Amino acid sequence: MAQTKRMLWASCLIFVLVQCHLPSAKCSHALSNVGINWGALTSHPINPYTVVDLLKDNGIKKVKLFDVDSWTLGALAGSGIEVMIGIPNDQMERLSNSGQAEQWVKQNLTKHLHGGVDIRYISVGNEPFLASYENKYRSSTFPAMKSIQKAVEKAGVAEQVKVTSCLNADVLDSGSDKPSDGQFRSDIKDVMKEILQFLNDNNSPFFINIYPYLSLYLNPNFPEELAFFDAGRSFEDKGATYTNVFDASVDTLVWALKKEGYSDMKIVVGEVGWPTDGHKSANKDKARRFYHGFLKKLGNQQGSPLHPGVLDVYLFGLFDENLKNIEPGKFERHWGIFEYDGKPKFPVDFSGKGEDHKWPVGAKGVRYLEKQWCVLSEDVKDFSGPVYEALGYACANTDCTSLGYGCSCADLDIRGNVSYAFNQYFQARDQSVEACDFDGLAEIVTSDPSKGTCKFPIVIESAATSLKTRDAIIHILLLGFALFFVTFM
Ligand SMILES: *[C@@H]1O[C@H](CO)[C@@H](O)[C@H](O)[C@H]1NC(C)=O
Ligand SMILES: *[C@@H]1O[C@H](CO)[C@@H](O)[C@H](O)[C@H]1NC(C)=O
Repeated sequence: MAQTKRMLWASCLIFVLVQCHLPSAKCSHALSNVGINWGALTSHPINPYTVVDLLKDNGIKKVKLFDVDSWTLGALAGSGIEVMIGIPNDQMERLSNSGQAEQWVKQNLTKHLHGGVDIRYISVGNEPFLASYENKYRSSTFPAMKSIQKAVEKAGVAEQVKVTSCLNADVLDSGSDKPSDGQFRSDIKDVMKEILQFLNDNNSPFFINIYPYLSLYLNPNFPEELAFFDAGRSFEDKGATYTNVFDASVDTLVWALKKEGYSDMKIVVGEVGWPTDGHKSANKDKARRFYHGFLKKLGNQQGSPLHPGVLDVYLFGLFDENLKNIEPGKFERHWGIFEYDGKPKFPVDFSGKGEDHKWPVGAKGVRYLEKQWCVLSEDVKDFSGPVYEALGYACANTDCTSLGYGCSCADLDIRGNVSYAFNQYFQARDQSVEACDFDGLAEIVTSDPSKGTCKFPIVIESAATSLKTRDAIIHILLLGFALFFVTFM
C-alpha cells in the first residue's frame, strides 16, 4: 500500500516536472482562445523541444505553423497543444492533383495524427490573395483546397481536421473606413464565393489576418490611437460605436460575409500582433501597449460590436525571423514577442487579466556561442570608400533591419553601424574567424559593443547539436528523481 502511494507521489512529481520543467516554476495559464504563430524563417532556430517547453511554461495551448516539419511536429506530439499546419503557396498547384494531395495527407497529416499530434486545421496557402502577389495564386488556391479536403475525407479524419486558407485582411475592400461598406475585393470575388461555399459545406472557419500596425504603417494620416485599445476616440457606423481599428476590421469581414449570405460563419483571427523594430512605429513600448490592451479585451470576452463574445486569435508571433522577406518593410523581421533566442522582449499577460508587469517565461537551456563580437577595427580612422563598401557588403548579406531611422540602432555613429553590420554578418556565420575580416577592416573583441537600445547579439548554438545532450540530461534527471522517490520515501 505504502509502496503504491510512493509510486503515485513519484509519478505526480514527475508529471509536475514535465509540465513546468522546474519545481520552482509557476505554471502560467493563457486564455484558451489565444494561440500563437510559430514561423521558422530564421537562420538559427531554437530546438523545437525547447520551444514546446516555452509554450507550456506560458500556458499557450494552440500554435499555428506555416509548413510541416517532422522535427517540430515530433516535439508537439503528446504536448496537449492544438496545431494548425500549413501548405506553402508554391505547393498549391502541385497539390491540386488528387494523387499528390493524398500523398501529402499521408505524409504530412495522418502520420503525425497517429504520432499523437493534435492537428486541428490545415491552411492551404498563406495569404494567397495578397494584393501584392498580383493574382499569382488565384487559380491554384481553391483547387488545392478541394483536393486536400477530399484526401482528408478519404483518410477518415475530416471531422477532426478542418481545411481552410489563412487570408490577409486585404481580401476585403470597403472603399471607405466604414465596416458596413465591407465586401470582398472585386478581382477575387468569384473565387471567394466558391471558398465561402466550401467553408460552409465543411464547417470550416474563415481565417483572417488583421494588423492594426499596418493601418498605421501604410497610412501616415491614420489616427494612431485607433490602432490601440485605449483610445479616447471613436467613430460610429450604422449604430455601432468603434474605438479601435481591430474591431472595425472584424466587422468589415462580418458585413462582407453577411452580404454573401454567411452571417453565421465562424471567424478566427489567424494573425494579429505588433512588431518591435525596423520602423519608427515598431518598438517595444508600442508593442507592449498593443498586447496589453488586446489581451485584456480578450480576457473580458469583449468582441467587436457585430461579433460580441469570444473570438479565437493567433498572435503573431513567437520569435523574430531574420530570413523573412523585407519587401513589405524592415519591420517584417521583428514580429516576435520573444527575441530570436527565446528571451521575452516586454511584459505580456497571456492570461488576459491585464497585469501590467507580468513577463512571459523565456526559453530555457538555450546555449550561446562564445562571448565575442566582430567590430570595425580601432585602427581604422579613414571612413572613405572601403569602409562604406564593407558596410554595404555586410548588410547585403545579413540582417541590418535594426539600423536606420526610427530603429533600435538608429543612434549609432558611422563606426557603430559598420560594427553592427560586421557583427551581424559574423554571428550569422556562427562566429567563423573568416567572417570577421572584411579586408583587414574588422577585428574580434570580447567586450560587448551594445549601446542603449541597440543590442549586438551573440548567436545561439545550432539546434541540431544541442538537442541530444539536453534531452539526455533531462531523461537522466527524471529517472534519478523517480528512483530517489521510489526508494527513499
Ligand atoms: C509534406 O510537406 C513538406 C513541407 O511542406 C513538403 O516538402 C513535402 O513535399 C510534403 N509531402 C508530400 C508527399 O507532398
Ligand atoms: C550609419 O550612420 C550614419 C551616421 O550616423 C547615418 O547617417 C547612416 O544612415 C547610417 N547608415 C546606415 C546603413 O544605417
